[in-house]
Amino acid sequence: MEFKEILKRRTIRFFKQQPLAREDFNAMLEAARQASCASNKQRLRYIVVQTKELVDAILPHTAYAGLVTPRRNPEINKTAPAAFLVMLAEDTSGKHIYADAGAAVQSIQFAAWERGIGCCWLGSFKPEKVAELLNLKDPAKIIYLIAVGYPAENPVTEDIDADGNPAYYLDDNDTLHVPKFTVDAITEWM
Ligand SMILES: Cc1cc2nc3c(=O)[nH]c(=O)nc-3n(C[C@H](O)[C@H](O)[C@H](O)COP(=O)(O)O)c2cc1C
Repeated sequence: MEFKEILKRRTIRFFKQQPLAREDFNAMLEAARQASCASNKQRLRYIVVQTKELVDAILPHTAYAGLVTPRRNPEINKTAPAAFLVMLAEDTSGKHIYADAGAAVQSIQFAAWERGIGCCWLGSFKPEKVAELLNLKDPAKIIYLIAVGYPAENPVTEDIDADGNPAYYLDDNDTLHVPKFTVDAITEWM
């Protein structure tokens, strides 16, 4: 897939009930480990949660698409993700760990999209519940979750000018529209 196609990636919140292959996870994790990170400290770690029992147990402790709640909440056995990637920080000190995490998540999302796999980057989740389910001692080390799986929805992108409204919305056909400011709207040239 050409990079300009990968850039058309959109967040996916409804998934086909189809497992991912080990090589799919490897491609995402390879992208993560190659991402830029402050001082090259590489403080991010991952847990691949792929057993149905655990995925289903974690799902209620994650939150989706707050602007259209509850219409993009994935459901067990219908639209649930195939897996969660759990991103952990070995050490959360210093100001750059979330920048490191962002670079890694975006790389993961692009690697997934190239393989026809969708992701939902999750900042809204209950760390204590997730830590308990995964037998992790320190919930604060969980930085993000990423729900992954084959897409069962086709969000569409809309270009908007500087005065446009960036709030995503669902139309009458239950298609998610994701407005994005144009380059002109977000850029000044000097
Ligand atoms: C830091 C961060 C946290 C996010 N947390 C959530 C979340 O908890 N639940 C969710 O459904 N989407 C979450 N998202 C996805 C955004 O809603 C999504 O990126 C945005 O609507 C734009 O859509 P796009 O990814 O298709 O460009 C998060 C994105 C970022 C960058």
